[in-house]
Amino acid sequence: MKVTVVGAGAVGATTADNIARAALCQELVLLDIKEGLAEGKAQDMMQTAALLGFDTRITGSTNDYSKTAGSSVVVITSGIPRKPGMTREELIGTNAGIVKGVCENILKYSPDAIIIVISNPMDTMTYLALQSTGLPKNRIIGMGGTLDSSRFKYQLSQHLGCSPSDLNAVVVGGHGDTTMIPLIRLATWNSVPVTKFLSEDQQKQIVADTMVGGATLTKLIGTSAWYAPGAAGAALVESIVRDEKKLFTCCVSLEGEYGQKDICLGVPVTIGKNGWEKILDFDLNEEEKSLFNKSAEAVRTMNDVLKTL
Ligand SMILES: NC(=O)c1ccc[n+]([C@@H]2O[C@H](COP(=O)([O-])OP(=O)(O)OC[C@H]3O[C@@H](n4cnc5c(N)ncnc54)[C@H](O)[C@@H]3O)[C@@H](O)[C@H]2O)c1
Repeated sequence: MKVTVVGAGAVGATTADNIARAALCQELVLLDIKEGLAEGKAQDMMQTAALLGFDTRITGSTNDYSKTAGSSVVVITSGIPRKPGMTREELIGTNAGIVKGVCENILKYSPDAIIIVISNPMDTMTYLALQSTGLPKNRIIGMGGTLDSSRFKYQLSQHLGCSPSDLNAVVVGGHGDTTMIPLIRLATWNSVPVTKFLSEDQQKQIVADTMVGGATLTKLIGTSAWYAPGAAGAALVESIVRDEKKLFTCCVSLEGEYGQKDICLGVPVTIGKNGWEKILDFDLNEEEKSLFNKSAEAVRTMNDVLKTL
């Protein structure tokens, strides 16, 4: 099994590190356009193998896609991240060209790969990857809701004083600060609705803090976060390579599900050896449906920008 991560920056390197530590594949290729960066980070990670006890062979490549040949899964993290005060949407002009070019190069050498898109604005980059490659829809997965759901669990755990891993909670819709929808009504603490333990004000605060989770970190760090995004990227790779069929919120092509079509948006899906396999219908109430439709409208407006580039 071979996996490639494109972009050896903060998110790409962290994704690769998580993949190697969990020994998810025999071969792992890190590719970047910046001379020597991927080779250097690959060597640095390989020098943790003896300490951490993994056998994955990690190699780096400066824009030589022949080294990625035969990859089963490719994670795209290449592009610019946002700076404090920027929205994810402001990255579209630069990142669209990068993502499109990377997809073309990847498919020359790995025509059967499942592609995970992380570059922002992720919903639009996923749509672009789907449109420009013409691949079957199940092989294009956008990573955003997986991270946002983990951030939602973190916020809930802070208020409940519990372990984040005892919580079930999902964020659906777009991956933007104003387009994501943390579904607090459906969140549970070991099967008991969390709403039982939280005041209305607390619930509102948790939802609001989740929505600006990325922006809060960008303000603190000076660039966008990487530990949780990298862990989320690797969790999707794991579910694919081990055919786990775990349920994650991922950005996938909708053809009528959740009342939307011709768009890629975050919904609960199972992830297995074929990519995303099944969309689950969570029976949103009227208010949630209306938020979902608004989110779709905003993402569609962003997708329209692609036509002007
Ligand atoms: N979807 C999510 O949940 C999520 C979370 C965090 C970050 N992101 C996004 O992921 C992207 C990467 O973030 P980061 O913090 O790792 O940025 P970064 O600047 O640390 O790394 C990006 C890397 O991409 C490389 N790159 C640029 N153009 C390339 C090309 N054509 N081919 C190969 N490599 C290329 C750069 O040289 C750089 O090393 C950003 O767009 C960011 O907004 C998404």
